[in-house]
Parts: sequence; structure tokens; C-alpha cells
Amino acid sequence: MKRRTHENIVSSAKLRMQELIDEILRHNWLYYVTARPEISDHEYDFMLKELMELEKKFPELARQDSPTNKVGATEKKSNQIKHEIPLLSLDNTYSPEELMAFDNRVRSAVGNKNFKYVVEPKIDGVAVALLYLDGQFKFAATRGDGFAGEDVSSNVTTIKELPLKIKRIKGVTDGALHLRGEVYISRERFAKLSEQMTEEGSVPFANPRNTAAGTLKLMAREEVKRRELKIFIHSFAGRDSDYFKFMMKLEKLGMPVVPNRILYDSAEKILTNLKRKEEEKRSYLFDTDGLVIKVDSYRLRRELGEKARSPRWAIAYKFSPETAESKLLAIELQVGRTGVITPVAKFEPVHLSGTTVSSATLHNEDEIKRLDIRVGDYVVVQKAGEIIPQIISVKPAEKRNPPFVMPNKCPVCFSLLEKEEGKIKWKCTGVNCIAAVRAKILHFGSRKAMEIDGLGESMVDELVSSGLVKNISDLYFLSADQLISLPRMAEKSAKNLLKAIAASKEKSLERFIFALGISGIGETTARDLANEFGSLKALREASIEDLIQVSEIGEILAKSVYDFMREPAAVDLLDKLHSCGLKACIEEKKREDVNGPLLGKKVVVTGSIPGLSRTEAEEAVRKMGGSIQSSVSGKTNLLVLGNEPGSKYSDALKRGIEIMEYGRFLELWNSHSNR
Ligand code: IVH
Repeated sequence: MKRRTHENIVSSAKLRMQELIDEILRHNWLYYVTARPEISDHEYDFMLKELMELEKKFPELARQDSPTNKVGATEKKSNQIKHEIPLLSLDNTYSPEELMAFDNRVRSAVGNKNFKYVVEPKIDGVAVALLYLDGQFKFAATRGDGFAGEDVSSNVTTIKELPLKIKRIKGVTDGALHLRGEVYISRERFAKLSEQMTEEGSVPFANPRNTAAGTLKLMAREEVKRRELKIFIHSFAGRDSDYFKFMMKLEKLGMPVVPNRILYDSAEKILTNLKRKEEEKRSYLFDTDGLVIKVDSYRLRRELGEKARSPRWAIAYKFSPETAESKLLAIELQVGRTGVITPVAKFEPVHLSGTTVSSATLHNEDEIKRLDIRVGDYVVVQKAGEIIPQIISVKPAEKRNPPFVMPNKCPVCFSLLEKEEGKIKWKCTGVNCIAAVRAKILHFGSRKAMEIDGLGESMVDELVSSGLVKNISDLYFLSADQLISLPRMAEKSAKNLLKAIAASKEKSLERFIFALGISGIGETTARDLANEFGSLKALREASIEDLIQVSEIGEILAKSVYDFMREPAAVDLLDKLHSCGLKACIEEKKREDVNGPLLGKKVVVTGSIPGLSRTEAEEAVRKMGGSIQSSVSGKTNLLVLGNEPGSKYSDALKRGIEIMEYGRFLELWNSHSNR
């Protein structure tokens, strides 16, 4: 009888272990390969913990290929790099007690020695391994399965802060220096990208970490650059040095090292500061999911050694993510600049991570179905990147309302909604939909676009809902009388607004191109387009092939600009703005000096050029017949090398592009301007 029971236990343990392994492998794949995980880190950790405990209890059932023995997922990619020193992970703790247990383990292993811990933020990003040889960047690879990862050098070198050449210092940077770090995206950039993705009708990533992971895998370097990846270095290998000191040295050499590192001489002192450290995380510009506590001394690290997937000398202390519960009051539909419809959850206001929130985007109809969210339900809310409120789960109300049904008409202008092929979002078909007009006008007048002071949300609301403004061009036909006739409009604000609108006629071509709100065209690409074509007329006439010649523009953006310039509504708008006298629409391309020594060359400037500001240097390039590019690409002909160059220098070296040192450039410029 007893035997049978034991057999039963073993066979159910075996079943459960198989179940856990399958699930963990699936979640590894979702997390590491697709960057779109379905469960939280907490849930994942608990599955892994359960599996570890079962393996400990039934060692005869433990499988060699168990996910507890390795980190991450093997990616089926061609460019694999073997990690000379495997990339480990960290064990997680969730309570002060677990932290003290770690400290006890360390103490009993090292005996009565005095030692220090370093405590620093655990960056919620993507692990990468970097190799520097004699101070020169060689490659970057993802973690992969811990033993080999994917070559991501090209994307990692888009990170502005990462020096690709550091001073060669004996014992510090000479020979092979293996660095490990976390690639991440700042919270601010994540929020901006999410907004853009929503506007374009695609589903944004759930959080900064997933954005960074998804970006690191992209094959389009220009898009990667636009996303603005960043990195923090948090480990090194191949050097006999205590951690804190070595990180200081790296920092001095210009390496972006994990910030807020603190040395403690006991675990008790760490405990008394835990709460404060947790609160501090909100002020960071990056996402953290906890703290990493590491033994500082490399000698003790060596004594303590490593387990299969994690070191014994370090541990992670994970913060539980802040969540709040609220009641869903409504699901509203918002109409964006391009008419894209986004459902938004409106719930009772709750306090979350320092602010009061009462709404969260639901992205699209499919997401509403996936969550099965209904008015009256209770929702669990969290902030992605500490900024964007998100509904992470739904607790159904006892008596439930019927499911949400997507209407077939725009809630604002009642035009029919349509879904383009292959897209997941509905779009309003109304050409003059007030909501889309409102969003377009707001963007047109915004600070980085035409900078029209006074054209804020409430003013735009008034102008659009009164029917005075149906299109961007209507702004330039407004009269003082019309404005004063609006409710709550004082004479002075009317005058100021008209003045600001008139002043916007003088704005540059690059601002104007950005202000048009062409899908995918941000400030940088707008500047590149303005520099390349020099006039709106030339841009309107440009073919797709001409557009692709611009450094940051690939096929998709080229098509977006080309199509926009031929949309009847845009043609009409641009013609009208031309007749209103907007400088950006009228000015012809300035004549290039046909005899310039840089004639026809696409030039990138990096570093500072003594005696010239950046704008003056760019102006000099143009006056000598060249055109300026903001980054090195296959189309670049020449790199002007100033003092303290950035990553553009190594980009140019890699691509074998002609390099002109600033001395020679100044010589050319002097003789050219003295002609
Ligand atoms: S030290 C032997 N320090 O978190 C591994 N890791 O969940 C030593 N991470 O694999 C890692 N911030 O990719 C360290 N300040 C930090 C970190 C950090 C994030 C990552 C790292 C690690 C993972 C474990």
C-alpha cells in the first residue's frame, strides 16, 4: 500500500515537472525570442522555484536539459557568438528574511572575514556581453542560452553613450576585457515610442524592457537608432579587481556604468535602507525591478564560486510591482491624428506610483476580448515604465454586464469605421472627423513643430468644435472678430494667437515637414529631408528612389512621404499654405556653389571642430557643395572628424568611408570662403 502511494507521488511529481518544464520553455521563448511575454517575472520565478524544489526532492527525476540548468532560450539565429565566459543569471529573493538567509550562506562560506556588499539597481533590460580588445570594441552578443548568444554588435553600436574606443590602460583595459550589461530604453523614450506606435495603428510594447528586447532583434539599423537604446555596464570578467573600484575606473573612462552603486559593510545596514532604495526607484529615468546585492571582493567571489545558473556571491532582491485596484466605469473610443481608433478604459481614480490615474489604453478590440473586460468589473492597474497606466488583469463583477461591442461608426463624426487589411485597429473614414482634425492641429502648433503659442488643447477644442477650423490651412484665415466671437475668448488672447499664427509663417522647412504629421516622420527625419531636398517643391517632386537616398530613410518611410505628397487632401493643403505665404512652402532651394570642393558629397560631422560651432560647420559643408547627414549610412561619402568623436567615427571606419580630419577641413573651408 505504502509502496503504491510512493509510486503515485513520484509519478505525479514527474507529470508536474514535465508540465513546468514545458511551460517554462514556452515562457522563455515568449520572453527571450518574441519579447512579448504573457506572464509577470514573479509568476515565472515561482514556476522555476517549484521546479527547483521538485528536482531537489526527486533528484532521480531531474533532467540534464532542465531549464533550471540554463538561462534564457536558444535563439535560432545564424550569427551566434560563443561566450568565452558563460553569462549567468541571479537567484531572486523577495523578502528581508530571504536576504538574510543569503547573507548567512555567504558568511558561513567565507568564515569570519570582514567584507563589503555593493548594492545597486537591478536594471530591467536585456542582458548583453561585450568584448573590448586593447580598448577597442569588438562585438556585442545577447545572452542566448548563457553559453552562446546572437551577434547584436550592429545594433549595440547605435548606443550613443557607449564608447567604441577607450583608453588602453595596463591592468584595466589592455588585452581582452569582457563586459556585461543591460541594454534598456529610457522611460521617457518608451512613452514617446508607445505614443507613436499607437498613432501609427500598431500595438506598442508592454514596457521599456520588451521594447529594448524587440529593438535589439531588429534588422533595420536606422529604426534601431531612432528608438534610442541605452546601456548600463554591471559586470566584468577577466580582471582580478574588486568590483566597486573597477566600476569607478570604467566610469572614468567614459563607460556608462550602472548608477547609484553603494558599498555596505553589513547586510543589516542594507536592510535598514531597503525601503528608501525602493522609493528611490521612481526617480530613475530607467526601469528597475529590484536591487542587486553583490560581494565586492573578487577573492571572496572566487571562494564562493558559482552554481549551474547563478553565482553564490550575488543575489537579486526583487521589488513587487506597484498595482492598484479600481472599478471600470466605461470603455471610451479615442480618435487619433490619422483617424485611428483606440479604446480607453475609464475607471474610478486610484493612487498609483505617485500619481492619480483614472484611464488606461486598451490598445484595440482584440485586447478587450483577451482581457474580457466589461463595465462594472474590477481592474488591476500597473504603470509601465512608471509612466503609462496599464490594465494587467480583470476581476469580474459578481453580476456582469454584457461584453463590449465595437461600434461600426466613429463616436465623434459618425462616419463608418474601417479596418485596413492586415491591421488590427479600426480607423474612422471621415475626412473631416473633428477628432482627427483636433489631433492634427495640436501637432501642427506644438513646440517642436510650428511653435504656435496659445494653440493648446482647450483653444483647439474651441476652434474645431465651433467649425472655424476644419483644416490646418484654416488657421491662417482666422480673423480677430471670429476669435472674439468664441465663448471665453478675451481680446488679448485672440490678438496673441493671431500674432503667433502669423509668426509661424516664418518657421523653417524642417519644422514644417515635421508639423505635417506624415506617418513615421519624426523631428530627425524631417531635418534630414529638409537638408537633402532644400525646398518643399523638391520634396513634393521627389521619387521614391530620391527619398531612399536620404540617410535615415528606408523603403517604408520613403513610401509614406511619397504617398502623403500625392494624397488629394495633402495636395490641397500644401497649395493653400503656399498661397498663405508660409516661408517653408515658398522658398526655393538655395543655390549650391557649383565649384565647392565637397560638391555632391553626403557628409557626416562628428566631434567638435575648433573655431566652428556645429551649425557653422554644417553650414560650411553646405557652402562647399556638400549635404549634411545626421548619421553614417551606406550612402555617406565623407566623415569630418573633430575632437572627441562619437560612435559615428567607428561607424565610418567599419564601413570604410573616407575620413577627413578637421585640420584639413578647416584648410578647405578657409581657402573656399576667402575666394
Ligand atoms: S550582476 C552573474 N547587476 O539581471 C550575474 N545583473 O536576473 C551577475 N541585471 O543576469 C549579474 N541589473 O542580466 C547584475 N546591476 C546589475 C543588474 C544585473 C540587471 C540582470 C543581469 C542578470 C539578470 C538576473
